Amino acid sequence: MDNMVSRTGDQALQIDGLRVTFGDFVAIPGLSFIVSFGEIHAVIGPNGAGKTTLLDAITGKTRPTEGRILLDRHIDLLRLDEPKIALAGVGRKFQKPSVFEALSVRENLELALRLRTGSIFSELRHWNDARRRQRTNEVLNEVGLEEKADAIAGHLAHGQKQWLEIGMLLMQRPKLLMLDEPVAGMTAVETTHTAELIGRLRAPERAILVIEHDMDFVEEIADRVTVLHGGDPIFEGRMADARADARVREVYLGR
Ligand SMILES: Nc1ncnc2c1ncn2[C@@H]1O[C@H](COP(=O)(O)OP(=O)(O)O)[C@@H](O)[C@H]1O
Ligand SMILES: [Mg+2]
Repeated sequence: MDNMVSRTGDQALQIDGLRVTFGDFVAIPGLSFIVSFGEIHAVIGPNGAGKTTLLDAITGKTRPTEGRILLDRHIDLLRLDEPKIALAGVGRKFQKPSVFEALSVRENLELALRLRTGSIFSELRHWNDARRRQRTNEVLNEVGLEEKADAIAGHLAHGQKQWLEIGMLLMQRPKLLMLDEPVAGMTAVETTHTAELIGRLRAPERAILVIEHDMDFVEEIADRVTVLHGGDPIFEGRMADARADARVREVYLGR
């Protein structure tokens, strides 16, 4: 969109009193937080803290028992099913890359666009080939895969596949981009590259929510961090301050 006013600071995601249970087990007792446009927000916490459950609730994979999740202030995600939540502007990258191995990088990106074009929500279905090609080139540039545009996705290195998958999400211009452990299984060089890439993805019309274990990585990319423990937020603020927080240290070091 060319006539866009900056949305930095506006609420992209608002979570209020979110409660998720599995039978008698309470995974998230009552969680509230806000992610703003233009922001990179990280959620960290030990295994079982409820991080993936939180993403599952936002994407509609798991139904909360209580609470409210609003996208861009007015879209009530709990009233939508999984495909409609994605179409409303929530992109989620899973840990395992799921690119189409037999297709080229460019074809993967174009396919990601086409998969959404049937939607009544989407501006994209009106796009012509030139517009699609332009968008594909923009995203190739954004994820640093211009030189790999014609390479077969199956031949890419692990890190490059992850970047391609981020690109596939970007094709759809998500308002909220969520990345679940984006550097898991990456080499040190790939991790550095991914930190740079995510830093470059910061945009006024986009909010980024990252789940990650690697604290150094989080400190490098995130504006703010929420530390979860037993589904409760025990800290919210800057990663540098989280490291010094007694409760956070206990949770991470006490295990
Ligand atoms: N489908 C499920 N049924 C029962 N318990 C679950 C289910 N999914 C997650 N849990 C439990 O909820 C808690 C949080 O899990 P999860 O969100 O995967 O943690 P994290 O991603 O932070 O490691 C864990 O104790 C886990 O065992
Ligand atoms: Mg998890």
